[in-house]
Amino acid sequence: MKVLVIGGGGREHTLVWKLAQDSRRPEIFCAPGNAGTAALGSNLPIGAEDIGGLLEWARDEKPDLTVVGPEAPLCAGIVDSFEASGLRIFGPKASAANMEGSKAFAKAIMQSAGVPTAWAQTFTDADEAKAFVHEKGAPIVVKADGLAAGKGVTVCKSIDEAEQAINESLVDRAFGDSGSEVLIEECLVGEEASILGLVDGEHIVLLASSQDHKPAYDGDAGPNTGGMGAYSPAPIVGEDMWPFIRSNIFEATVSELKKRGIEFKGVLYAGLMMTADGPKVLEFNVRFGDPECEAILPRWEGDIIPVLEACIDGTLTDDLIRWKDDPCVCVVMASGGYPGAYEKGKLIKGLDKAGAIDHVTVFHAGTKTEEDSVVTSGGRVLGVTATGSDLAQAIDTAYKAVSIIQFDGAHYRKDIGAKALKVLS
Ligand code: AMP
Ligand code: GLY
Repeated sequence: MKVLVIGGGGREHTLVWKLAQDSRRPEIFCAPGNAGTAALGSNLPIGAEDIGGLLEWARDEKPDLTVVGPEAPLCAGIVDSFEASGLRIFGPKASAANMEGSKAFAKAIMQSAGVPTAWAQTFTDADEAKAFVHEKGAPIVVKADGLAAGKGVTVCKSIDEAEQAINESLVDRAFGDSGSEVLIEECLVGEEASILGLVDGEHIVLLASSQDHKPAYDGDAGPNTGGMGAYSPAPIVGEDMWPFIRSNIFEATVSELKKRGIEFKGVLYAGLMMTADGPKVLEFNVRFGDPECEAILPRWEGDIIPVLEACIDGTLTDDLIRWKDDPCVCVVMASGGYPGAYEKGKLIKGLDKAGAIDHVTVFHAGTKTEEDSVVTSGGRVLGVTATGSDLAQAIDTAYKAVSIIQFDGAHYRKDIGAKALKVLS
């Protein structure tokens, strides 16, 4: 069996790692991949957004399954293109991927479906947007409608800040067409959690809960990043909340889409704020989270291919997935300067020694092989992941592995999982 994984970050190394353990022992290709995926399969010199190039390769090589990591190719219609060529591919078509591609579309679906979320209004005119902000007051959230590489959301403490964010998007066009419309949104208060669901068009299987750490520095200080670490499960999501999350968030959303003639297949990821009034949706994504994937997949018991195929075939059932009890923690090691400018090409030392520790897996993100060495090639470099019999032990083990790995300028948060320890204490 041949499997193609599209993308080249920590999420994709984790998917490749899980696929490599499948009892069908697939031959794995990753486009473009990283030094981690190269050790488990063949990297292809094709970018994740080069849909024409990927399709050409797939038409020639005929993979039995393609798994898409990042949102950009999904929103650009890679699933539509592959299916039109008779290729089996896991992920939503462009019309359904619009749940991530357009925050205004996602909000309209949530409002029609009665999904709990922040109130919001959309604007294309800066003066009207500012008048609305004055009417509502701060704190308030300004979001560029489209994909903005994680930079399109500003949580504004003051009206001034909100006006600046509106100018940035609508006047200065900092996000290009992605920011030609903005949402002005209620600022929700609480702790965040990520719930991912697999969807086959009809049936929904929720995956284990997790929590990301978006700000760059300890104590949730500093600029937002793609995610500096994650753990699973997230104790903030109590057992009693699951039925509500399933019916009022996931089932309501999937059936509202269906009412509009849009079938959702793939991963539907709800970024939740656990407010005093219960969980509310901050955003939907249409793919595995990164680094949530690194914290969730090591807890997944058994094969992944039958489940991905069931999503494609419309035969998904809850009993296809079982979870290990052991919690998992992923600490992201990033390049100096990230999420701002950073240098690449730094030699990474200690990978083998860290990876040899029991219960540790070092997932590669921004890495590549140069001669016989592994060097940095991106902002988020590694996802150092450990399981443990309890969360405290998983955290200890992950940081023990982190302490062994070195590259110039490396930085990482020292408090991944700390919020969960507080909830548990
Ligand atoms: P997003 O790109 O939509 O995931 O937003 C990035 C981050 O902004 C989220 O993880 C939250 O921390 C924050 N955020 C987004 N929407 C809101 C909101 N309505 N209220 C408070 N914080 C928000
Ligand atoms: N971890 C956040 C994301 O994948 O969007």
